[in-house]
Amino acid sequence: MIIRALRDVDIEPCIAIMLDLPLWREYGTTRDDARALFAGALTGAASARVAEAGGRLVGFIVYQLRGTFDHSGYVRAVGVAAGVQGRGVGAQLMDAAEHDILAHGPNVFLLTWARNDAAARFYERRGYERIGEIPNYVRPGITELLYRKTTGPIRPDASVRNGAG
Ligand SMILES: CC(C)(COP(=O)(O)OP(=O)(O)OC[C@H]1O[C@@H](n2cnc3c(N)ncnc32)[C@H](O)[C@@H]1OP(=O)(O)O)[C@@H](O)C(=O)NCCC(=O)NCCS
Repeated sequence: MIIRALRDVDIEPCIAIMLDLPLWREYGTTRDDARALFAGALTGAASARVAEAGGRLVGFIVYQLRGTFDHSGYVRAVGVAAGVQGRGVGAQLMDAAEHDILAHGPNVFLLTWARNDAAARFYERRGYERIGEIPNYVRPGITELLYRKTTGPIRPDASVRNGAG
């Protein structure tokens, strides 16, 4: 299996993987939403990598280097084709995105649906800490969990002054 940058010809296979996964169907993601996400990555709005095995696309990850608070990395979406999950593809896609993001700053953030236990486990095993909840953010009635993986503060050398000091 190889992890490589997204190309124009990958857009339709990525859309197919995304729309086939129950998660994005439940979010109400449309073909146009999915196309905008991947096409945006080709025009520089985000970065994207895909996983290819035996000439077939089996997974994708879309992320932004400064997609959180206009400052820190954000993993927007990661998906692996249903029949290929649990074989380490998602881990390799996350490795690639985190490597890129952490080369630009010490934080990676992501959101996941509170009912997506498998994804929460996957992120927690990768060192992500749950730091908050955002109710009714994407869809009414759905709470998003905010996760952060960090190698340290943005400005580790800046000292904090206390009181009038
Ligand atoms: C969440 C998701 C991206 C993870 O990708 P994946 O390829 O299934 O994940 P991995 O195989 O790398 O890891 C999953 C599990 O398989 C295990 N695993 C890793 N390599 C393995 C291997 N070679 N053989 C068997 N199991 C393996 C891991 O230990 C991991 O277990 P854990 O989750 O309990 O820690 C994928 O399952 C998916 O697309 N889910 C639907 C969409 C989704 O929920 N996306 C995330 C929210 S945006």
